[in-house]
Amino acid sequence: MTVDLSQFIASIEHFVGEAGPAFRAAASLDELELVRAKYLGKNQGHLKSLSAELGQLERQHRAAAGAKFNEARVLLEQLYEERKAALRPVAAAAPILDRTMPARESWRGSLHPVSLVVDEICGIFRELGFTIALGPEAETAWYNFGALNFPPDHPAMELHDTLYLEGGGLLRTHTSPVQVRTLQQYAPPIRILAPGNVYRRDFFDSTHSPVFAQIEGLAVDEGISFSDLKATLTHFAHRFYGGSRRTRFGPSYFPFTEPSAEMHVEVDLGDGRGLRWIEIMGCGLVHPAVLEAAGVDGERYTGWAFGMGPARIAQSRHGISDCRVLFDSDVRFLRQFAE
Ligand code: PHE
Repeated sequence: MTVDLSQFIASIEHFVGEAGPAFRAAASLDELELVRAKYLGKNQGHLKSLSAELGQLERQHRAAAGAKFNEARVLLEQLYEERKAALRPVAAAAPILDRTMPARESWRGSLHPVSLVVDEICGIFRELGFTIALGPEAETAWYNFGALNFPPDHPAMELHDTLYLEGGGLLRTHTSPVQVRTLQQYAPPIRILAPGNVYRRDFFDSTHSPVFAQIEGLAVDEGISFSDLKATLTHFAHRFYGGSRRTRFGPSYFPFTEPSAEMHVEVDLGDGRGLRWIEIMGCGLVHPAVLEAAGVDGERYTGWAFGMGPARIAQSRHGISDCRVLFDSDVRFLRQFAE
């Protein structure tokens, strides 16, 4: 059986007319491969049967028919490549989904128990109109000691107590320098809370750490007296520990307060020894020399201040007897406080 040239050319055109749109319509790489197998496949593809027909043409028509055949093949191969290139980014962007994969454990951090206590204390004082003030951890001796009325020979300034920096600075040993910095910057009335880390040259043991958090409080205005200090701090202790908790004030000494006091609360540390008084902060009326050093009129204004250790307060609340667990970053300990 011989095949007529015009019939052959009509078949080629029909073939291209059907295969071209099929390549363009393939919606995925898998579908495109099926279209390719159907039209260009080496075994059963339509092109294969056309090449068989080519062999049955009369000899003088074969060159023209062959050219038409090759033109069709090249065109369709090109359409195939183009479609493949267009589909590839779509395939790459699609997520690889393995439904048999075990679920990933979600790791959520939480606030450290000391940070939680700092936030809670700041919240209580914020209700009373206090705002937050921050100061540098690397301080000058003047802000840390001099302006706070430490005499030049005070033992706290010695090398075995304070960490000095090259060039004469030091790591602040308390947050009290923020009192001076705030008084220099803002005119009274002032009510601030200054949380932050402080550094001392202490051994790391169950009751000491060379770095620990403090919260400083300062209120300065006209006519402030010791009863303002007592009322505010007692209110704080009742808000923090509960309304029935007993509190008391005892005498103390700080160069920057006069008179100076320490505040105690009665707590159960959970060690089987029952209720016991612990000191939670140092406090007092701001010494007029501190006001004057910061450029505030000590005749007109008075104030009170306190400094407390939130780590100790967290320990008293949760019955933690060794402060080192607060620094260990042991997740088994920390996750008990996660909210
Ligand atoms: N700065 C004192 C300390 O570190 C605490 C304190 C602050 C005492 C403010 C009185 C007033 O121990």
